[in-house]
Amino acid sequence: MENLTGKAISVIGLGVVGLTTAVGFALKGHRVTGIDIVPEKVMKIANGVNPTYEKELTEALRRVKINATTDFHHVLGSDISFLCVGTPDNADGSIDLRYVKGAAEQLAQLLMEKGTSHLVVVRSTVVPGTTEKIVAPCFKDLPEVGVCVNPEFLQEGTALEDFLTPSRIVIGEDGRRWGDMLLDLYNGTADSSSVLRTDLRTAEMIKYASNAFLATKVSFINEIGNICKELGIDVYEVARGMGHDNRIGKDFLKAGIGFGGFCLPKDTAALMMKGKETGYTPKILQEVLQLNREQPLRMLELLKIHIPSLSNKVIGILGLAFKPGTDDIRESRAIPVVEALLKEGARVRAFDSQAMPNFQKLFPQIEYCGVDEVLASDATLIVTAWDEFNRLDYSNSIVIDGRRIDAAKRAQIYEGVCW
Ligand code: UDX
Repeated sequence: MENLTGKAISVIGLGVVGLTTAVGFALKGHRVTGIDIVPEKVMKIANGVNPTYEKELTEALRRVKINATTDFHHVLGSDISFLCVGTPDNADGSIDLRYVKGAAEQLAQLLMEKGTSHLVVVRSTVVPGTTEKIVAPCFKDLPEVGVCVNPEFLQEGTALEDFLTPSRIVIGEDGRRWGDMLLDLYNGTADSSSVLRTDLRTAEMIKYASNAFLATKVSFINEIGNICKELGIDVYEVARGMGHDNRIGKDFLKAGIGFGGFCLPKDTAALMMKGKETGYTPKILQEVLQLNREQPLRMLELLKIHIPSLSNKVIGILGLAFKPGTDDIRESRAIPVVEALLKEGARVRAFDSQAMPNFQKLFPQIEYCGVDEVLASDATLIVTAWDEFNRLDYSNSIVIDGRRIDAAKRAQIYEGVCW
């Protein structure tokens, strides 16, 4: 049903965040144009095909119409533009803002032709101060253009659900008028208690602090787990006991081989670098990242207790994705594990129901095979917590478990990485 109060929105950058934002607002009755520089991606979206692995998006894209295009001029048909372009990391971990800057400059040039009011919303994850120092100045000669920050808190795999039922909506604004216009788009998505209105840089910081805290929680429980392992204590029981305290919370306390993905490692590193830039060296963040680098390598230490020399041994890997439910391997803990095994001269074979094609691009030299072949290796390492791994028969295998797969405890030899 057409929403008569629907607004004309353009979304610039159609990765998971941009596409979810586009589809989410279209579901709310707004008219959405999606813009991306990759023609194949645009073609798919224009035809209602989801180029990402997000399941709910696939279904929703069949129901809504996104006017997808590579032509930036289409922003002129909208009143509100969301910047959802990527913010990759530089080699030193700091954030690379060139796409945000480029998109803002291009937008400013076009908006000069428009002449009517327009709201630019920064939804890409950018370090505090970016919108004020890099984005807003592009529009300084356009008094009818407002700028807001509206960070997303979407988890891969449940992105659309997270958009439609958000834990909070953060509106970073420089003037109430623009914040009201942005909030209007969400019409009834969240109750007023979970809407936060702040200045621009605070909104940017909320996003970074949230992701850095989640990363810290994981590294914290991994550290407790490492101590538990030495003491013969089950860290999962400990986490359950801790989680009953509302101040701690039960989520994000799964000990294992650490966090991967495109957000937690990158955002924690970028925040650390931003802190250093101000002259303050963040100590906790530094250790969170260091522990996350070391944690996957514990698998090899445990493996070597049972197989002291890995040279020419066949080692199987179960799981390559950075978490279950995705084919995404960015910063997957499988990467340092496979690198370390190859360095030790092991022959690696691996299985993942979704992520093998992506991993193969990075590691063409290892063997990709079925579950049975992996389990027939000299030892098996469990790297991703796919549900299906709980239905396997491990009874003839040596297993080093990085993700707490209960069925694997029945292996011939079993070592949990922190339990
Ligand atoms: C994360 C944030 O959760 C989300 O709010 C933000 O917007 C983007 O970054 P995502 O990258 O999809 O989302 O991954 P997430 O589900 O948070 O998991 C990140 C990593 O942490 C995974 O590798 C996962 O295996 C690991 N993890 C998570 C643990 O090791 N233990 C836990 O208890 C939770």
